Amino acid sequence: SSRKPFIAGNWKMNHTMGEAQAFMEAVKGKLPDASKVETAIAAPALFLAPMNYLRQGETLKLAAENVYFENSGAFTGEISPVMLADLGIEYAIIGHSERREYFHETNEDINKKAKALFAAGVTPILCCGETLETFEAGKTAEWVSGQIEAGLAGLTAEQVSNLVIAYEPIWAIGTGKTATAEIADETCGVVRSVVEKLYGKAVSEAVRIQYGGSVKPETVEELMAKENIDGALVGGASLEAASFLALLEIYK
Ligand code: G3H
Repeated sequence: SSRKPFIAGNWKMNHTMGEAQAFMEAVKGKLPDASKVETAIAAPALFLAPMNYLRQGETLKLAAENVYFENSGAFTGEISPVMLADLGIEYAIIGHSERREYFHETNEDINKKAKALFAAGVTPILCCGETLETFEAGKTAEWVSGQIEAGLAGLTAEQVSNLVIAYEPIWAIGTGKTATAEIADETCGVVRSVVEKLYGKAVSEAVRIQYGGSVKPETVEELMAKENIDGALVGGASLEAASFLALLEIYK
């Protein structure tokens, strides 16, 4: 496809600032050409400003792992889309399954976050994915379609063309159980067909859909070769610079 692959790390709640700095130094000058693949790290909010300084001259993009949907005000503990935009942070993950599960985020919250991010000029990485129970009941397509329809409500075609969606089956996250490339491709295809139904063919061909869930340097090539998979959202294998670079080896 004409979509540029996008490999993003998600550090979750890991690393110290010293480790983050060491990572940035270790990847410097070693990332593949930005014309072949887009790369990003989603890091704890506390590290984003120093990492933004440390990446000067590098093609590595930065992402927040979460954001609030208001731009300012009495919301103790939150960070806003305009704060991210002001620093030059390009992306924000929204609706990760861990935030849905442990922090009770709803599709409605996630939709508000998508709108607020686009308004501020930050691109959302909208996550979706089903539990093992839903997968085993054969209800993955129905579940994921519902999450996508609700997450996209009220977004414009132009916004959705620029959006990144991450399909992450919850049963494959941090478990070492990658979905087979066939299953991952099939559900990413379901996501694309929902976008087509809502926005038409051109938008569905522009939107980038990542797969996430135990992606490793050994599995990335087969996954990325699939028609509907445009990238990866990688947890564990993005923490160490050597492993992150190994994920990108196929684009060298
Ligand atoms: O956002 C990343 C995913 O939750 C995948 O994490 O690669 O450690 O399974 P993992």
